[in-house]
Amino acid sequence: MSVGRVYNATKWVDTAGNVIRAHGGGFLQQDGYFYWFGENRTGGKLVSCYRSRDLATWEFCNDVVTFDTHPELNGCNAERPKVIFNDRTGKYVMWLHWENGIDYSQARCAVLVSDKVDGDYTYIKSFRPLGHMSRDCTLFKDEDGTAYFISAARENADLNVYRLTEDYQDIACLEQVLWPGQKREAPALVKRGDYYFLMTSGCTGWTPNQGKYAYSRSITGPWSALMDIGSPTTFDTQPTYILTISGSEETTYLYVGDRWDPSDYHNSTYVFLPLSFPSETSMQLQWASSLSIDVETGRVAVEQNRSELFRLRMNWRYLVAAEDGQIVGSRLSYSDQRQLWALEETADGAVRIKHWASGKYAEPENGSREPGAKIVLGDKADHRRQEWNVLKVGRDYVKLQNRFSGLVMELDGGRHGAVVQSALDSGAHGAWNSQSVLLAEVYQ
Ligand code: GAL
Repeated sequence: MSVGRVYNATKWVDTAGNVIRAHGGGFLQQDGYFYWFGENRTGGKLVSCYRSRDLATWEFCNDVVTFDTHPELNGCNAERPKVIFNDRTGKYVMWLHWENGIDYSQARCAVLVSDKVDGDYTYIKSFRPLGHMSRDCTLFKDEDGTAYFISAARENADLNVYRLTEDYQDIACLEQVLWPGQKREAPALVKRGDYYFLMTSGCTGWTPNQGKYAYSRSITGPWSALMDIGSPTTFDTQPTYILTISGSEETTYLYVGDRWDPSDYHNSTYVFLPLSFPSETSMQLQWASSLSIDVETGRVAVEQNRSELFRLRMNWRYLVAAEDGQIVGSRLSYSDQRQLWALEETADGAVRIKHWASGKYAEPENGSREPGAKIVLGDKADHRRQEWNVLKVGRDYVKLQNRFSGLVMELDGGRHGAVVQSALDSGAHGAWNSQSVLLAEVYQ
């Protein structure tokens, strides 16, 4: 009866047919419902609430926080709302990341309360916890009722773990500064067995990066080192929550991620992905194009489609062919199919780089062997200038060396330029290097 089918990273709509606007979301389970709270940036709304019994069919409940909730919220930016219930006070308590709506300089959290899970929340205050900057955040209620607020501090360099007061409406103390200087954000915490797992992303705005996780026997630590999870782009998502489904047959954990669209926030979508635990202290994330979730038994079945397409990311820009056939670095866009590429292997181990939308191939302009020559698209030709050696340069990154010119692709001008060919540099490799390419698989 209760098997729900979820299609990841597609436009999710509620039972009235309206697009679900609940980004950076958090969940609360009550009376057989999953309540979903998330950011809604339309029409003076801030936080919207939906509910579902099966995690697939979502009914809109209320815009629980809006510009009208309080003058300090009028025109503000409210991100990553999370709600927990306080058994002592009988109130639902929401924490979120508050900014002035112009920039991210305020770095504050805000607290709101309600007597009803999906009621209109009352604003209490916004502040910097114990004076610390506070941006991406999450809230966690432990089994003994102690609650914690975790947020990115010191210009996102650190992740601070605060214990809350008994009413959950203030900070009691700073318990831990996690991974100082390692710049982690988008925290999502869950407890499984004797261990807590904390998942985070790196700090690259709306552009997806490598998710990592750590484990600990206690929220107050010590925590393990950070370990990679998922693909180098976390399947093109950023964490926001980990759902626990306590079924009659299994307890299942689902990763909830936002697939932010950096070119159009309103085109952002969501994913629910299965987490698995090969051991008590290790966690794995798997891509799923769609899921069947049985919340009664806890069973989840997964279906995967392979796109066989890639995005080519250099120095956080995604390669796209401009009108004139020139290849340039551009902001990631999920609606721009011109950012999709196919890689065709040659018989002797090189690749041809095919622009999926036009069917044309990457090559140096006019068959040039000169450094600085542009990389453009050409009609398919049986020619070495359309063949590229794939030079591995460290985890998940490659450099692409043209077999005719011997030169490698480079994103000219760092992040904003066109793609040209230049001599292979021996400098730093990886995400911020303008010659290193992440062949980011397209997960759909
Ligand atoms: C992300 C963060 C989001 C939002 C965004 C703004 O890094 O996780 O919640 O703040 O930056 O650029």
